[in-house]
Amino acid sequence: MISLKDIRNELDALSANVAGHSTLSRLLIGYAVWQMFDKLRSSDGPFDRAGFMAFIRDAAVWSDLTRGADGSPVMAADSMQDTAAVEAYTGSLYSQCWVPYSDDGFMHTVSMLEGRLRNNGIGPELFEGYKCIDMGCGGGRFSIAMHLLGAKHVTGIDIGIEAINDAKRRREAHGISPDKVHFENQSLLSLPETWANQFDRVLSSGVLHHTVNPELALQEAYRILKPGGIAFIYVYGAGGLHWEMVDWVRALVHDCPEQFARQTLRLLDAPVGKVFHIMDHWFVPNYETLTATEFEARCKATGFTVEQRLFRGLYLYESSERLYQYPEDADLMGEGDLRYLLGKKS
Ligand SMILES: C[S@@+](CC[C@H](N)C(=O)[O-])C[C@H]1O[C@@H](n2cnc3c(N)ncnc32)[C@H](O)[C@@H]1O
Repeated sequence: MISLKDIRNELDALSANVAGHSTLSRLLIGYAVWQMFDKLRSSDGPFDRAGFMAFIRDAAVWSDLTRGADGSPVMAADSMQDTAAVEAYTGSLYSQCWVPYSDDGFMHTVSMLEGRLRNNGIGPELFEGYKCIDMGCGGGRFSIAMHLLGAKHVTGIDIGIEAINDAKRRREAHGISPDKVHFENQSLLSLPETWANQFDRVLSSGVLHHTVNPELALQEAYRILKPGGIAFIYVYGAGGLHWEMVDWVRALVHDCPEQFARQTLRLLDAPVGKVFHIMDHWFVPNYETLTATEFEARCKATGFTVEQRLFRGLYLYESSERLYQYPEDADLMGEGDLRYLLGKKS
C-alpha cells in the first residue's frame, strides 16, 4: 500500500525536478497537482493513492518536456510531403486519443451514429444485414455501432497501429466475435485490388479530409462500394469562424511539440473528448474543407450519385446542428458539416 511517506517523496522529487523552471511552469505544476489532490479527496471511495502518484509522475514528465519544448517543430516541413511520414504521424496522433477513452465514453459515442441518422429520418436498417466497411475507424466506435445496428459483417481499417489494437480490445471487451467485426491496420489510399465492389455500405466519418489525397480517398470509397450500395461520408464543410479559429490557433502554436501539448492537457486534467478535439484540429498535419457545392461536384465526378445530405447533427457543437437550430448564426458557421448518403448505380 502506498504510504504518506511515498507520496511525500514523490512530491519532493517533483519539486527538485522543477526547481530551476520558470515561474509560470511552477505555477502550472502547483495548480495541477493541487487540483488533482482536491478532486481525488472529494471523490467517492478510498483515496486513489496510485492514481495520485501517477499524476505527480506525469507532472515530472511534463516538466522534462518543457526543456525541449521551445522551437522544435511539430513535424518537419519537408516530411509533410512524404505520405508515409504523414500517415505514421497522423495514425499515432489519433491512436493516442482513442486509448484513454473509458468504456462508457466509447459506448456513448457509439450511440451517436444512431442518433444522427434518426435526426435525419434514417433508421438502423441502413446497415441491417449488410457487409460494411469503416474507412479510418480509429478506435472502432462506428464499426461496433454498425455491428450493433445489425450489420452482417464489418471491416474497420485505420493507419493507427495502436488505434487498431484498441479497437480489437474493445471488440473483445464487448464479446463481439472477430468473425463479425474485423479490424485491420492499413491505409485507405492503398486498399487491395480485390476489394473492388465488395461492400454494401461504406462509412467514413471525419477521415478523408485528413489524408494526403482526399480525392483519391473518395475514389477508393467508390471503388470498393458494390453497385447499388450506399456510402455514408462525413467531411469538413468550409467557411465560418470555427475554421478561422483553427487556423489562428494553429499559427499560434505551430512550434509547440504535440507531445508537450498533450502532456500539458493531461496536467490540466482535460477530459479525453477535449484532448481529442484539440489534437484533431491543432496538430493534425492535413485538413481540407470544402463547400457543399465543391463536395457534391467531386462526388459526381467520382461516379457517385448524391442521395441525401444530412443537414442535422445530434449535438450543438456540430456546426450543422447549430445551423439548424440557430439559423441566425449562419455567418459564423459556414457550410456546416458535410454529411451525405452517396450511391453507386447498379
Ligand atoms: C478524426 S479521426 C475519425 C475516426 C473515426 N472515424 C471516428 O469518428 O471515430 C480520423 C481517423 O482517420 C485515420 N486516417 C487518416 N488517414 C488515413 C488513411 N490514409 N487511411 C486510413 N485511416 C486514416 C486516422 O488515423 C484517424 O483514426
